[in-house]
Amino acid sequence: MGSETHKSTFFTGAQRIPPDHDSPVKANLGQGAYRDGDGNPWILPSVRESRRLLQEQGLIHEYLPILGHAGFREAVARTVLGEELFSTKGSHVATCQSLSGTGALHLAGKLIARTNSPKPKVIITDPPYGNHFQVIKDVGLEYETFKYYDAATKSVDMASYRNMLQTVPPGSVILLHACAHNPTGCDPNKDEWREIGQIMKSRNLFPIFDAAYLGFNSGSVDEDAFSIRHFIGELNLEAAICVSYAKSMGLYGERVGAVLVHAASKDLALDCQSMLEQIQRSQVSNPPAFGAKTAHLILTDEKLKKQWSEDLLTMSGRIRTMRQKLYDALHEEGAPGTWEHLINQTGMFGFLGLSSQVVVELREKYHIYMADNSRISVAGLNDSNVKYVAASIAASVREEQGQK
Ligand SMILES: Cc1ncc(COP(=O)(O)O)c(C=O)c1O
Repeated sequence: MGSETHKSTFFTGAQRIPPDHDSPVKANLGQGAYRDGDGNPWILPSVRESRRLLQEQGLIHEYLPILGHAGFREAVARTVLGEELFSTKGSHVATCQSLSGTGALHLAGKLIARTNSPKPKVIITDPPYGNHFQVIKDVGLEYETFKYYDAATKSVDMASYRNMLQTVPPGSVILLHACAHNPTGCDPNKDEWREIGQIMKSRNLFPIFDAAYLGFNSGSVDEDAFSIRHFIGELNLEAAICVSYAKSMGLYGERVGAVLVHAASKDLALDCQSMLEQIQRSQVSNPPAFGAKTAHLILTDEKLKKQWSEDLLTMSGRIRTMRQKLYDALHEEGAPGTWEHLINQTGMFGFLGLSSQVVVELREKYHIYMADNSRISVAGLNDSNVKYVAASIAASVREEQGQK
């Protein structure tokens, strides 16, 4: 609230929401965006070439249709499902371009809120990706969390996961991270995904896949889409998939994404698509064009697609290398505790497992910024800062232990 007092205002319900970002200083490991080996944003060669081709073809700036770029929508469905599954299930899938992954979740959430009475609860992992709460609340759905992470083993708490799946009311919505769980970096393995899917099918639970990291995680979209393809292809589950090209194409600010909805029939898919169109019209009228055109070329031009595959390997490979380097440096510094979890985790984030006291110390004394739950963006590490980060973590943990 401001210091001035107002006698009357229309905005009596307004309050000051704390900002959702850190201020960048020595090592900014808080921001969820890829950085190259020099700590700079990276324009993917596939994106650079796609932009050049678009420019050459003569970019026009007309509106897209409400559902978005038709070629892009189809290319997303083909890429996420894979050609084989697309050939059998493509006609049962509604597609709508969205404002990146966040917009896709909004669309999916609104669709679910409008098509179900009573409205189902949405089950979110704890620890959560912070924005899930806000989006789910904003679309008018209620949520509950379940314990996803076992701090003792630093891995997915499958016992708690099973228990949640077996006890939530039928018809509940489970918000799954298709791969690279944010913030923990811990995913179920393939057998665990099979088991999760089986229980969800038998208990009539609905999956929303937050698919913000397809391809970015392992370097292969096919590998990262395993859970999605298994649920749809093998189990024939209805599902929503929220796709983002923010990370995997580095198109963060262009807001390129799509929601896919796999429905039980072709007719239902068309119904859902018409509702998505109506929701989109009221929210943004029509989605932004430039990023969708850029991504469309990459997903459909053989040469560009091949380059994108290489770009995914470049990004995921550098992140894996930095995980290893941080792990090695922590060992060299003799940082107390075990750090294997850092190399076992996947995706852009490393969940360090530090106390809040150490996180504050790292911020205030060493100017190393990370999320309050000690989640770092591994992509923020490079050869110039990794030793400094490891030495600072080691010193802070030692200091904390000395105080005990
Ligand atoms: C788990 C998860 N979901 C969704 C998003 C949404 O990102 P965007 O809206 O930029 O695609 C992010 C981004 O950090 C994320 O980590």
